[in-house]
Amino acid sequence: MSTRSFLRDDDLTPAEQAEVLALAAKLKAEPFDHQPLAGPRTVAMIFDKPTLRTQASFAAGIAELGGHAMLVDGTLAGIGKRESVADVTRVLDRQAAQIVWRTYAQANLDDMAAHSSVPVINALTDDFHPCQLLADLLTIREHKGELAGLTAAFLGDGACNMGNSWLLAGTTAGMHIRISGPDGYVPSDEMFARAGEIGATTGGSASAVGDPLAAVAGADVVITDTWISMGKEDEASTRRAVFGPWSVTPDLVAAANPDAIVMHCLPAYRGVEIAAEVIDGPQSVVWDEAENRRHAQKAIMTWLHEKARA
Ligand code: NVA
Repeated sequence: MSTRSFLRDDDLTPAEQAEVLALAAKLKAEPFDHQPLAGPRTVAMIFDKPTLRTQASFAAGIAELGGHAMLVDGTLAGIGKRESVADVTRVLDRQAAQIVWRTYAQANLDDMAAHSSVPVINALTDDFHPCQLLADLLTIREHKGELAGLTAAFLGDGACNMGNSWLLAGTTAGMHIRISGPDGYVPSDEMFARAGEIGATTGGSASAVGDPLAAVAGADVVITDTWISMGKEDEASTRRAVFGPWSVTPDLVAAANPDAIVMHCLPAYRGVEIAAEVIDGPQSVVWDEAENRRHAQKAIMTWLHEKARA
């Protein structure tokens, strides 16, 4: 189908990403001035994995845009089991103006978008978390001004959705993205190649830096995420055994630029991937990130709605 969707970070060109971020800042300043979903138009939200921030920020954001958030119970719907992804999509796109889906396989989300007459938004898959990245980039803009030229170090499980999304969205914004994790926990060569391709057009870059101290040296932004992403719970003990040196401690933050900000998409495990003094300390911007999910998602919903009608 020809409507635009937001399935992975590089679905937006650098110019489009900048446009969406500028719109997010505007919607944050004037939360109730834009009502593209007035009617109210319905946005379907489906969660196959746990959620707090995503459900809350989409529901609140959809309401602020004048729309109605319809929660479709992923377990009851049994997407891909009880009915095919294609058939579910053909039903939902007759009811909703947009579909927001958190699920496991990126291929299923791609399948939905391929069959949908309305925009589909990735609310996290095993491979990408692009809405979080829009919120994160908005947060960095607020604290640092320009994005292009900044250096960000992502520490921990670089092979997870957040590592991939940082590579793609960060280089789209012209940032230098360093991923630092134990062997076997860095993004694929394919992801680095794609980020390198994007960086070549924006002045950004992507690199793997094994040593966490070297990764944070000169960094403007220090980022981490849980070491055990949703769906990886049975690998918990193996992961805890290897990730220790990548824990974001006060010493590690002290090795970054003095005005570096610290980010975490949450949920956070204090004393594990991040020290309590760091996440609760003055350089942490995690609550801004969580709030900015709403503003960023309002912007992408508005932008996609306008594209779908153009
Ligand atoms: N990498 C984490 C992100 C949580 C928002 C996960 O997939 O569980």
